Amino acid sequence: MSEVVAYTRQGSIGVISVNYPPVNALSHAVRTGLVAALKQGQNDVEVDTLLLVCEGRTFIAGADIREFGKLPKDPSLPDVINAYEKSDKPIVAAIHGTALGGGLELALGCDYRVALKSAKLGFPEVKLGLIPGAGGTQRLPRLVGAYKALEMITSGDFISAEDALAQGIIDFIGDDDAIHITGLAYAQKLSKENSPVRRVRDINHKIEIDKESDVFDQFRAKLEKKSRGLFSPFKCVDAIEAAFTLSFTDGLKRERELFKECMESFQRDGLIHSFFAEREASKVKGLSKNTPIREIKRVGIIGAGTMGGGIAMNFANIGIPTTIVDVQQEALKHGIEVIRRNYDSSAKKGGLTVEQVEERMRLINTSLSYEALYDVDLVIEAVFENMAIKKEIFSKLDEVCKPGTILATNTSTLNIDEIASATQRPEDVVGMHFFSPANVMKLVENVRGTKTSDEVKATVMAVARKINKVGVMVGNCYGFVGNRMLHQRGTEAIALVNEGATPQQVDKVLTDFGFPMGQFAMSDLAGIDVGYRIRKERRNAGEMVPIGWLDKLAEQGRFGQKTQAGVYKYNAGSRVPFVDSEVEQLIEAFRKEQGIIPREITDQEILERCVYVMVNEGAKILEEGIADRSLDIDVVWIYGYGFPAYLGGPMFWAEQIGLNNILESVRGYSKTVGGKQWKPAQLLENLVAEGGKFKEL
Ligand code: 3HC
Repeated sequence: MSEVVAYTRQGSIGVISVNYPPVNALSHAVRTGLVAALKQGQNDVEVDTLLLVCEGRTFIAGADIREFGKLPKDPSLPDVINAYEKSDKPIVAAIHGTALGGGLELALGCDYRVALKSAKLGFPEVKLGLIPGAGGTQRLPRLVGAYKALEMITSGDFISAEDALAQGIIDFIGDDDAIHITGLAYAQKLSKENSPVRRVRDINHKIEIDKESDVFDQFRAKLEKKSRGLFSPFKCVDAIEAAFTLSFTDGLKRERELFKECMESFQRDGLIHSFFAEREASKVKGLSKNTPIREIKRVGIIGAGTMGGGIAMNFANIGIPTTIVDVQQEALKHGIEVIRRNYDSSAKKGGLTVEQVEERMRLINTSLSYEALYDVDLVIEAVFENMAIKKEIFSKLDEVCKPGTILATNTSTLNIDEIASATQRPEDVVGMHFFSPANVMKLVENVRGTKTSDEVKATVMAVARKINKVGVMVGNCYGFVGNRMLHQRGTEAIALVNEGATPQQVDKVLTDFGFPMGQFAMSDLAGIDVGYRIRKERRNAGEMVPIGWLDKLAEQGRFGQKTQAGVYKYNAGSRVPFVDSEVEQLIEAFRKEQGIIPREITDQEILERCVYVMVNEGAKILEEGIADRSLDIDVVWIYGYGFPAYLGGPMFWAEQIGLNNILESVRGYSKTVGGKQWKPAQLLENLVAEGGKFKEL
């Protein structure tokens, strides 16, 4: 008897139940158990119908991803599914939670499918750099036709049980909360009616209809834009097309070949690392699972700017009342208008109903007074980067907020401990660094101060998850993890232009690498004036900060997209950058003024200087304990800055390139370019000397 798959009898129904927490993934033990239980069912003369059902929180959520890359063990998943499909007794798959990937493929290998109303179905393989590899690309189109199959499999998005019923993927939706009752009732009905087997492989009318369709080429063209740089979405189209051009058996073979190609691709490695890294990042080192978490029922935000408004939306979206405080009525009015515009735009695109917009707007209140925050459970300060102002705000919050309120700052660079020192409760002070636009970007860099309590750390991590973000806990230093590394990349990008590259060359190297935008397009988006003001303040304070060509652009009022001119120029209302000859001239004049003779710079040098410098800084961040694990840095960069997930994040990517190769280049640039940023991280030196890896630390 398998420990993870049981066979029992309920009258004329043989029940095969899977119990392999947390998500009933199709591990070797589960596959073996499924085959054994099927055999029992087949041999059981008392039963005429079988029911496949899962224990715990979900139906089977896919192949066991942890087994990928290991030596495959029989029975393979396609063999298991083929055996289920061949059964001479009809099998009902009863779905609750999520039926994903190999789980849905197994359900499609059964004859009938029922689900609870709350269930979700999908093929997320593409998000792991794969295609469905156990018949999904051949069976799904037989039920839903080419277009829907392409849509589901290339997006990886889940669909609801209702949608699945409408599409003919499932046969029935049960109202009962208990999947066993729903499944059993359906199987009993089939048994009573003497229902025959009904194999998906034999359903061919939709294949005939779409056989000559040009939808495959249309989809490929669509993916050229949507899935730039990705490998597996195109393989999904090839596999689905095979369902329309080959026999079922040959289609399965073709699917297997394409699945293997994806399995062997580096993108699969990177995406699976990203999947597990995201989940690991939620487990903070040194923080016990049993750490109490404070309940967050009301939230306060300080500052009605773009950041404050975006952050407030996250809480309203999950039904938490939020009060925004600002010192100017005009700012509050404008902030609320922006929030409404954002919601209205979602409603126009069909993401929200008008009622939902109104409900969320009702949850966001405003006030000119800090007193309005006396009973909130969490305050997030989101005003501009000025230590004196932030300290004043925290001191006021300390006065008005009830004991136990978490006082968080959205600072992107400033010292959390210094901010905390303005209060009598530094243990309740923490950083919650959101990324712009805060209602969209998935990352929250949670920054621990020296005195931040475990309870507060655990709570802000839970808050991030609750508002559907990815939280990463990091230590306190200038720029924390993300901006500290970005700062080094920015410095190198500017230096490369000083030396002879063009901004567009630098940006193209970065976008070809896989970033959604280049360094300079990003400066234009964020606003060149921001950095300019910071540098000016530092100069006013007596620091030696040389004037660069970006400062000269800012002095001309070229602040970026908002002024339709920055490093690039923009047409009114458009975000599409154009090269501006005026900027080229300004850079040329700057070089002359500095006595720089421009040289030809290769794309390889740009790539190395922009990305290796980040890896070197990342190693210093690890060495100093600012990040606990290299995967935390990877997650910050994937979710905060669009580092391509298929490369696994900067630290994972560095290991693919080879830490010895990175170190050799870093040492080289340390001699030719110089500067603190190129001083090799001791950790990098040590790992190369010992043959170690970031991920083994
Ligand atoms: N294999 C192994 N472990 C898995 C897994 C899988 N397919 N799916 C989830 N897990 C693990 C997670 O790593 C996590 O482990 P941890 O507790 O040790 O960190 C645990 O299960 C719970 O996962 P989540 O924290 O993500 O829980 P949620 O409730 O938020 O989400 C989920 C559940 C929707 C099932 C989500 O985990 C998910 O999307 N999983 C991936 C599903 C997937 O991609 N399936 C396709 C696999 S590829 C395949 O099937 C190939 C086939 O076509 C041949």
